[in-house]
Amino acid sequence: MINNIKDVIINNIVNSIINKTFDSSVKIVKTSNKDNKFNHLKKDASYLLYIHIPFCDNLCPFCTFHKYKYDEKKAVKYFENLRKEIHILKNYDIKIDSIYIGGGSPLIHEEEIIKTLKLLKNIFKVEDISCETDPNHIKPTTINNLKGLVKRLSIGIQSFDNDILKELSRFDRFGDKDTLINKIKKIQGILPITNLDLIFNLPNQTKKSLKNDIKIAKELNVEQITTYPLMSSNLNSKFINRFELNKNKENFYNIICDMLEDYHMNNMWSFSKECEEKLNDEYVSTYNEYIGLGSGGFSYLDGNLFVNSYDLDNYENLLNIKKDSTIAKSTFTKKQMIQYYFLCTLFSGSFNIKKYERLFDINLEKYLKKEIFLLKKLDFIYIENEVIYLTKKGKYLLIVVMANFYSKMDKVRAIFKNKIIV
Ligand SMILES: C[S@@+](CC[C@H](N)C(=O)[O-])C[C@H]1O[C@@H](n2cnc3c(N)ncnc32)[C@H](O)[C@@H]1O
Ligand code: SF4
Repeated sequence: MINNIKDVIINNIVNSIINKTFDSSVKIVKTSNKDNKFNHLKKDASYLLYIHIPFCDNLCPFCTFHKYKYDEKKAVKYFENLRKEIHILKNYDIKIDSIYIGGGSPLIHEEEIIKTLKLLKNIFKVEDISCETDPNHIKPTTINNLKGLVKRLSIGIQSFDNDILKELSRFDRFGDKDTLINKIKKIQGILPITNLDLIFNLPNQTKKSLKNDIKIAKELNVEQITTYPLMSSNLNSKFINRFELNKNKENFYNIICDMLEDYHMNNMWSFSKECEEKLNDEYVSTYNEYIGLGSGGFSYLDGNLFVNSYDLDNYENLLNIKKDSTIAKSTFTKKQMIQYYFLCTLFSGSFNIKKYERLFDINLEKYLKKEIFLLKKLDFIYIENEVIYLTKKGKYLLIVVMANFYSKMDKVRAIFKNKIIV
């Protein structure tokens, strides 16, 4: 018990240090018409491409992602503009290794997403394409139409507990536990990889309910299961504050890790059945640099974090005026770039010191001496053959830190959403 309290205190202290580092690193400033994220692309380099589709039929109270209530006319216009941005990117001589289409609900307009996927395939010749969806857009006919276009389909389930689904306002919209299970069974195996998103530490969630969620997900035999901790920020505080804080987060995370012990950990919250398939949900964790297209997309290029316009009209205007939708950016110093890379790489489970030193042409000791000393001393990491690994409590710490990172990004969303900056 005393050990538990000590761990909680240490977690909080380390997390607060990381928070302060984030606050001092991420200084977002408005960009001018001369600033263009594409000018930071390196010829012949390869990148991960993230594409954002900001529409949902209805909005869930817990979700802080950038999205608008669906309107067909607006969505069609948006997809047209998105394809314009894809064509702009085509003019740069770069290679795309992997594409992640997130939302919102990317399958909300089947014809438009398929047109966009075909364009992406045609231009970038990428095999590895992931696409998110809500459970209402996974009819077998739709998923069959995605064959050869999408490799990995990620379905938002959140929980199979009917009471929790009601709290999340998803019971009436997406169906009860049995409906969700049947929907998944009907499309299982059509695409190479099906992922289910679950959330833990939800209001009123019990250990029994969480264990049942994981059990059902395993029985469904999907290739991948992702378990996010409930993330809170000022964008969903109205919903979160209605409930008593669930104090089981670390316990819940340990239950998940134990129950998915026979799975391969892609990163701290994503588990896959196939170890050799390096499936990864968190594009920020595996790729050093990534390009974000679409309204609200983030890019990390050349030590700069770029933010695309949240406003759909402004998104279109900017593409027409300056051939880029960027409205703001934050520029990192070399030390901050190294810290960011360290954090994101460690989130995937291990960190190769030599590879890292070559990449940044630095001596690790010099740049991260304090951080590594502290993490080792507090038993969050251990080092073997010049590779840094996370201990059990280190894995949980990374979950807390990454969730905080996302909450911080919500701050950026809150600042810029609905503000038109040309
Ligand atoms: C952007 S959503 C897209 C999924 C799809 N629209 C749906 O609702 O089924 C991707 C995933 O983010 C996760 N998510 C959304 N809000 C979250 C929050 N506040 N905390 C933790 N995870 C969250 C959910 O698991 C969700 O499935
Ligand atoms: S959880 Fe999915 S459906 Fe709900 S608001 Fe977020 S993106 Fe939209």
